[in-house]
Amino acid sequence: MAETATTSYTLIDGRKVSKDIKAEISQRVLERKAQGKKVPHLAFILVGDDGASQTYVDNKVKACKDVGFHYTMMRFADTISEEKLAKHIAHVNDDDDVDGFIVQLPLPPHISVEKINEQIRPDKDVDGFTNRNFGSIISKQPLLMPATPFGVIELLRRYQIETEGKECVVVGASRIAGAPLSMMLIEQGHATVTVCHKYTKDLGAHTRKADILLVAVGKPGLITGDMVKPGAVVIDIGTTKVDDPSKPNGFSIKGDVDFATVAPHCSFITPVPGGVGPMTIASLLLNTLRATELRLP
Ligand code: GUN
Repeated sequence: MAETATTSYTLIDGRKVSKDIKAEISQRVLERKAQGKKVPHLAFILVGDDGASQTYVDNKVKACKDVGFHYTMMRFADTISEEKLAKHIAHVNDDDDVDGFIVQLPLPPHISVEKINEQIRPDKDVDGFTNRNFGSIISKQPLLMPATPFGVIELLRRYQIETEGKECVVVGASRIAGAPLSMMLIEQGHATVTVCHKYTKDLGAHTRKADILLVAVGKPGLITGDMVKPGAVVIDIGTTKVDDPSKPNGFSIKGDVDFATVAPHCSFITPVPGGVGPMTIASLLLNTLRATELRLP
């Protein structure tokens, strides 16, 4: 018998969950203040003037204000050399007042992201980008979890979406999202995990098997309704900037999932924006609180 689309789905509200997490963090900041302990301080390093990066960092700064963290914004022209940027990172690494910091990506093409990430002190690496923190996923002594996958796992947990023994298909194997997410689904989620990437031959044959489909590629509309099993949970991690003259800043952010054709097949689905994006920010705040408490309990 042909499988048909389900008629109703639950929209996973990342904004609401992120708000709940922020309320929990605000409470913790107040408790620390009352105990005379240090208020967490998050610093942002932004290179160049990419509009989307500026928007992302503005949202992160606003989140710091919302929870009562201290923050510092550090801006550099896109002509800065890799050496100068590395020197600046060394300075922030040694600054005792900064508990965590991020280097917003993308960086200009003359700067190696790998080299720059590895300059970040792992216990201040609140994005969880360093090799040490990638290893945290399977470590007996975890430090700081990669922020985007941490947010996805937290979203599934708070919606009580069971992962144990489930067929999870991750589309995309990037260092920031797909690769660490697949490891976390195995280690923490006890799921059976398939990772698809640009060399995967028949993507639909894999995605159609997924109880939980998680997509982090950066290709708007990649996943269409015919690629999704009825009743699946679909998590869209894609964030692609597309020109949109109707928006005040001239662009909008699109996910990888063609929401209109996919949603009717789903039990749960994340929107873009308002799904995983706010959770990455919540994870960043959680990691900053953890970085502070690890150093100064
Ligand atoms: N660029 C897009 N997403 C991210 C992120 O989560 N962290 C940083 N540092 N840069 C990004």
